[in-house]
Amino acid sequence: MSMRSLCGISILLAGACSAADLTGNWVVAQPNADGTSRNTYFNLKQEGDRITGHIRVTQFYYTIQGSTGNAEGFTLQAISKDNRKVTYQGKLTGEELQIGARPRPDAAVTTMLAHRAPAGEGAYPERLPLPALHKVPDNGLAKTPPMGWNSWNKFRGRVDDAGVRGMADAMASNGMKDAGYLYINIDDTWEGARDAQGNIQSNKKFPDMKALADYVHSKGLKLGIYSSPGPNTCAGYEGTMGHEAQDAKTWAAWGIDYLKYDWCGARNLYTNEEMQAVYQKMGDALRATGRPIVFSLCQYGNNDVWKWGADVGGNLWRTTGDIRDQWASMTNIGFKQNELAEYARPGHWNDPDMLEIGNGGMTVTEYQTHMSLWSQLAAPLLAGNDLREMTPAIKAILLNREAIAVDQDKEGKQGHRAWSAGDQEIWVRDLAGGGKAVALFNRGGDAAKVAAKWSDLRMSAPSRGRDVWAHTDVTFQGPEVSATVPSHGVVMWVVR
Ligand code: GLA
Repeated sequence: MSMRSLCGISILLAGACSAADLTGNWVVAQPNADGTSRNTYFNLKQEGDRITGHIRVTQFYYTIQGSTGNAEGFTLQAISKDNRKVTYQGKLTGEELQIGARPRPDAAVTTMLAHRAPAGEGAYPERLPLPALHKVPDNGLAKTPPMGWNSWNKFRGRVDDAGVRGMADAMASNGMKDAGYLYINIDDTWEGARDAQGNIQSNKKFPDMKALADYVHSKGLKLGIYSSPGPNTCAGYEGTMGHEAQDAKTWAAWGIDYLKYDWCGARNLYTNEEMQAVYQKMGDALRATGRPIVFSLCQYGNNDVWKWGADVGGNLWRTTGDIRDQWASMTNIGFKQNELAEYARPGHWNDPDMLEIGNGGMTVTEYQTHMSLWSQLAAPLLAGNDLREMTPAIKAILLNREAIAVDQDKEGKQGHRAWSAGDQEIWVRDLAGGGKAVALFNRGGDAAKVAAKWSDLRMSAPSRGRDVWAHTDVTFQGPEVSATVPSHGVVMWVVR
């Protein structure tokens, strides 16, 4: 007779046995379509009406801070190192733990069934020792801001081999490659399990990464990939932790040319101040492969990354959280980059995140503003839309060679806000050879005349210029710089 049934019949034994005891390791396995699965572990210890322990939701790790109830019905409050809070409700029914969670405060409760797992399974890994800081030598890449495409903004977890080949075909044939777009970057959710030797493998969506890289290379393009220094990525897939050098070698052997390295799972183990050492490890690992691989740091601009990103071998570093395909998100990010201008330089760029142009959440005028602002910022131009189906208006924005020329200016000086009044801002970017890109932005809800004095911009009045969006030559007269700018729009000139 098992303890469970014993406990059921004996009131005298009840206090001493573990029948209705939550203590133990519980797992909920949620399969992904690509052959991987997302596991949530509840490692619980129950002492009377007090429940303690840890919860690991793939890439997140929480410590239980408070509880009410017991196996017949309980609530757990847990918190992560970076102050994310979660609440779970549940009860034990037979051999199963029924657990309900609210993914967001406004969302419905989703119920999961947890089963007992062997002790230790899913335990969160321990921190690894960190290397002493040193300067990783410059890899000589990304002399101008990287241009290409990235899967995340549009495809999230739906990126696969066929889609990536399709993007490479489109980029090679629709004029983008000729305009300078080069990298085809696979973001999160390509990762599979490790083999017996610990080698990272791609999941079912990517049957053969080396063949895919060969294909992309055959189109004259380059292939990028994504990972995290933590045990898991942001989407919960396998990270590089403890396998940094091994994974860098694998990627190099596949023919990878670009790595986006996303903090995510590492946040549970290391402090923001320790990021530099963690990123340096991968900078060294990439260098040791001998293959030229662009190193893109993604840690949302924490810990003043612009001050040390280049020292860890970084070619670009995200300066913000994730962009969304909305006017407010794009402008909140873009117009906040002014103070970082001094840190951008050839080989090392501020990255205000990938483009949303063509994804449908903004108007054509707003996407022109997006492209103009990113060009002012010397930002990487990583298209985030479906390149296989673009309207002529969207193509005209991504393929605007005059805007691209501003972005790719070889001097690599980031533009700055030279003047502002209310909803209006004028940004100026110094270009090689003494030219300047001048952008008049109207963030307001109505078309408006944006007017200032050239001297307000600390410029002498030019006589001629080129309108980047109208593709016309323009002449200027007098001390005033002015234009009528549509709501949420821009007028951008290159003046020499
Ligand atoms: C983070 C990054 C995004 C994207 C996702 C993938 O949120 O900031 O750009 O890479 O992870 O999970």
